[in-house]
Amino acid sequence: MKFITTLLCFIILTTTVMSQNNYALLPQPVKLIPAEGHFSFNKNTQIVLTQGAASFASVAQMLTDQLQMAYGLSASVKNGSAKSNNINFILNNELAEEAYLLNIDKHKINIEAKTGKGAFYALQTLFQLMPAQIYSTTASQETPIAAACQIEDLPRYNYRGLMLDVGRYYFPVSFIKRYLDLMAVYKLNTFHWHLTEDQGWRIEIKKYPLLTKISSIRKETMVGKYDDMKFDHTPYGGFYTQDEIKDIVAYAAKKFITIIPEIEMPGHSQAVLAAYPQFGCNPDKIYEVATKWGVSEDVLCPREETFTFMEDVLTEVMALFPGKYIHIGGDECPKTQWKQSRFCQDLIKKLGLKNEQELQSYFIGRMDKFITSKGKRLLGWDEILEGGLSPNAMVMSWRGTKGGIEAAKLNHDVVMSPTDYFYIDYYQANPSTQPLAIGGFLPLSKCYSFEPDLPELNEAQTKHIVGIQANLWTEYISTPAYAEYMAFPRALALAEIAWSPKAPKNYPEFLSRLQKQKPKMDALKINYCPVEFK
Ligand code: ACM
Repeated sequence: MKFITTLLCFIILTTTVMSQNNYALLPQPVKLIPAEGHFSFNKNTQIVLTQGAASFASVAQMLTDQLQMAYGLSASVKNGSAKSNNINFILNNELAEEAYLLNIDKHKINIEAKTGKGAFYALQTLFQLMPAQIYSTTASQETPIAAACQIEDLPRYNYRGLMLDVGRYYFPVSFIKRYLDLMAVYKLNTFHWHLTEDQGWRIEIKKYPLLTKISSIRKETMVGKYDDMKFDHTPYGGFYTQDEIKDIVAYAAKKFITIIPEIEMPGHSQAVLAAYPQFGCNPDKIYEVATKWGVSEDVLCPREETFTFMEDVLTEVMALFPGKYIHIGGDECPKTQWKQSRFCQDLIKKLGLKNEQELQSYFIGRMDKFITSKGKRLLGWDEILEGGLSPNAMVMSWRGTKGGIEAAKLNHDVVMSPTDYFYIDYYQANPSTQPLAIGGFLPLSKCYSFEPDLPELNEAQTKHIVGIQANLWTEYISTPAYAEYMAFPRALALAEIAWSPKAPKNYPEFLSRLQKQKPKMDALKINYCPVEFK
């Protein structure tokens, strides 16, 4: 009887601790030691920058702002020493760049980090240890609490990326900021902004005003299924001014997100030719901004004038984006026009090249040299590997993992973004139950199953896999709401693989944590696809 009573007490106590303490973190931290109880914020709680932690002021301010917004609690940031009833920000130079320690007990919360980034990720974890209300924009009268525990954490990969294609559809500045906000909640740190496409050029370039006047607008858009060949007969356009881009870059920086701009070349450039036909192989052709999806035959011609144009464009782009990588696309460049062009054929002979593939490599090589000479690094889709690259160029593996494996063996850094696992424009559930998408099938479980350590690579080569990325192409995604629906919850599987330590895959356990995230995702008003939720 005594044994049963003790057992019952234990079960009740454990269940109480478990239910009080919501440790369902996403992504899962490296180490979490549970504890009983929680820290309660009150009107006397102070947010304190201890000695040496002044550089965490902006992160501490984010905590103040969030408490104010969600709970109407005013807790200003002060310099001081670690005390009870404080949230103490503490400098810890022993930690890695993005690492943090988070110690929550009944009396205080300590956040230790070496950099603002680490402190920022600690804050994201702290919010996940609080009720969903912390994400609400309407203040509640409840007392804010945070579940007691000790956490040691740092990411597995430095590159944790999400891409958005704004070429097929333009997404407003407000949505770009929201995409960044949601990325930051789940500790993603790289936003790949696909800014130019056959169907629209979306970045202001002062030296070439026709890019925004002409290349950013198509006369109509394909609607419905590709095979139906239906069009809406309505002009469509949009672009980001350089001022808007500066604002977005600064916004991202506050959330410790680097933006990588992508300017496609030599393929996916039909929109450029609509404004500047002299950079195509047939300058007399009347080019138009593309109105249907697919891969266009209208590509840039490797003339000196074209290189000058692209160098001018990239000069303005590099001035806007302070990150070290410039993505030049390089994928899907049909060679039909190069085969038919006397200029291209003469150039192949003159340069002693074998064929048009080597001419593409020459094109990429020229841009690589230019970008490298400006102190930046070239990044491109895995096609850029064909023909050799400068050692510091990085490869984004999309046609499976093969290109990435080959690149890593050649000592190039690699971002893994294979279609089969990370093309989040694919259907995530039975297509008959879903809005129209491009095709494919990528349920959350498949996304989650990706393991970036590949058996084909040895230890040294594996170090070249710097991270992973999910891509949101938007041919069939014309609204922010649908973009969110496709990105979530799959972006969380990506975040988990990118951040959490390598461990045997346990999808049911991941799903159970995801399920517990639901109230938080609801408080964040994320328009996620509901199929995986109960
Ligand atoms: C790609 O999906 N064309 C990179």
